[in-house]
Formats: sequence, structure tokens, C-alpha cells
Amino acid sequence: MHLEGKAAIVTGAGRGIGRDVALLLAREGARVIVNDPGVGRGGEPTEERPADDVVNEIRAAGGTAIANYDSVADYQKAGRMVAQCVDTFGKIDILVNVAGMLREKMIWNMSEDDFDSVINVHLKGHWAMSHHAIKYMRREGYGRIVNFSSDAFKGSVGQCNYSAAKAGIIGLTRSIAKETARFGITCNAMCPAADTRMMMNEAVIANQKRKLDAGLMTQEQYDRFFAGRGPEHIAPMVAYLCTDGADIINGHVFHVEKGRINSYFYGEDFKTLTNDGSVFTVDQLIELIPSTVANGLTPVVPPVKMQDAIRSTDAKKTESA
Ligand SMILES: NC(=O)c1ccc[n+]([C@@H]2O[C@H](COP(=O)([O-])OP(=O)(O)OC[C@H]3O[C@@H](n4cnc5c(N)ncnc54)[C@H](O)[C@@H]3O)[C@@H](O)[C@H]2O)c1
Repeated sequence: MHLEGKAAIVTGAGRGIGRDVALLLAREGARVIVNDPGVGRGGEPTEERPADDVVNEIRAAGGTAIANYDSVADYQKAGRMVAQCVDTFGKIDILVNVAGMLREKMIWNMSEDDFDSVINVHLKGHWAMSHHAIKYMRREGYGRIVNFSSDAFKGSVGQCNYSAAKAGIIGLTRSIAKETARFGITCNAMCPAADTRMMMNEAVIANQKRKLDAGLMTQEQYDRFFAGRGPEHIAPMVAYLCTDGADIINGHVFHVEKGRINSYFYGEDFKTLTNDGSVFTVDQLIELIPSTVANGLTPVVPPVKMQDAIRSTDAKKTESA
């Protein structure tokens, strides 16, 4: 067992990825607060209490777990959840922020409530839980925080609220890593891909087909999406990041899915254009940007326009040579 004696909170642990994370942390010896209010896919209240089922499963396997039903988006309740962990288990060593929901619409159809709800659960929820947990972790000189971002941070059709929240979670993760490293706390983020109710609903499946048809996704990416990727493939990387020995890994972002883990080369300079310090003219940028700073960037839409721009700059250069 790699997490014996540790005390952990896993948010959104009643279903999907969070459930597998809670079960694995418990199998590895951690005592776990299993948080989940049992809301629907869009965050709507239900009568379901999936946290109880996960707690029962952990206890039946000989582990230690307690349920919590609060929303991570509620600042006061997030604080009480952290206090529950400390009061019950004497400390908090591990925080895994998995809780999430979706309200998918194109930006012109998205309501203010759709935007606010998603930002509140994902971005504010991650912040609120981390804020309260770090107060304890800092005092103890130890902590492991694993956040849940998404590949949607790169931009995602019909998910601008979610995409913005998940990109924000990467900034939050890297900031926490920088602020807390000297207190023995690490903070990393995951971009998972797993078959859960969040991913495998009819609208998402239809959207994948539209993306393939529009050239926004390759056939290889499309096929991988339907390759039967269970949430159990995400949990081991989370557990690894929570071990003492993973202290060397801090502020990083990992994509994880069945049979594949990759890190991202994120936040580094790629191509640079410099001058003597004078103000660039717009004419200079029209001339230089396509073949320098923007040359080789991964396109977010099919790169026809960019290739045309490079070709036209090259043609002008050839003409004037
Ligand atoms: N499944 C994927 O492929 C995928 C891809 C990218 C990112 N993610 C992220 O991974 C995380 C888990 O997703 P999943 O696929 O397991 O989804 P899921 O819907 O199966 O599980 C999410 C759980 O979070 C709970 N939850 C929702 N709002 C909450 C709140 N305010 N407070 C506490 N709990 C709350 C829900 O009740 C649910 O049980 C999410 O943050 C999601 O955005 C998942």
C-alpha cells in the first residue's frame, strides 16, 4: 500500500472518475471523505446519494470512508468539508478535485446561469476546496492536490463556459504549485478521457461525429474516443501523484486515458519575433507574423487560412526578391 495513514478528500466521488479515484486511494490505505451531492449531469438536484454507495463499497473492502453531500461551489460548505476531514481523520494530506457538471450550448445560446454555474462548480469549486485545504496543509508542511482540468482547455465547440473554467483550472494549478512548493505541497492537473455519463451521452456522441465531418478531429482521435475507455484508467495516475515520492512533480498537466498518459509542453515560448525595441507597425506584423510567430502553431480550426497567409507572404517575398 502506497498511501497508508493518509487522509484524503475526493470531490465528485459518487460516480465516474471520482468514484474510481476514491476506491483506489482507499485500497492504497488512505482514509477518504467521499464527497458528492448526487446532482444530475447539468448540476440539477436529484434524490440520489451515490456517495453512500461508494462509502459502503470502501467499507466492505475493509477501508475507511465517510460521505459528504455538499457542493464544492459553496465557499462555507467547502470549508466545512475540509474541517470534517481534519476533525475525523486528524489531518488532510490529499485533496482530489474531481467534481464537475456540464451545460453545453453555443455561446450565442448560452444563458448567464449556464455560464455562472459551470464556472462556479469547476473553477470556484477548485479554488474554494484548495483554499481551505491549503490552510491546514501549509501548517503540516505536506500536501498533495490533484485537480481536474480537461483537454477542453484548448477550446471546445459548444462548451465555452466549461473550456474557460478548465483553462482557468490550469492557471490555478500552476499558481498553487508556485505558492505552496516551499510548504511541501504539490499541485498538478489531469486532462482525462473516460467513458462516464458526462462523456457518453447522445449529444456528445453526435458532436464527435460533427467534429469529424467538419475536420475538427482526425479519424484516429475519433476512433480513440469510442475505444471503451473506462474511468478506472484515470485513478492510478492520481494515486501516483499523491504518493510521497511524487514530490518532484509539481505544477504539471497530464492527459490520461486507457493505455496512454502524456504530459503537455505548456506555457513555454514557442516562436519569437524581436526587433530593436521600436514599436512594430501593423504593416510589419502583416508581413512577419504568419511566417514567424504564427508559423507552426497547432491550429484550432483547419489550417487553410493560415496556409494561405503563409503562401501569400512567401509569394510577396519571391516577387520582391
Ligand atoms: N469523463 C471524461 O472523459 C472527462 C474529460 C475531461 C474532463 N473530465 C473531468 O473529470 C471530472 C469527472 O468527470 P466524470 O466524467 O467522472 O463526470 P460524472 O458526471 O460521471 O461525475 C461527476 C460527479 O461530480 C458530482 N458533482 C457535480 N457537481 C458537484 C458539486 N457542485 N459538488 C460536488 N460534486 C459535484 C456529480 O454528482 C457526479 O457524481 C470532471 O471535472 C470533468 O469535467 C472528464
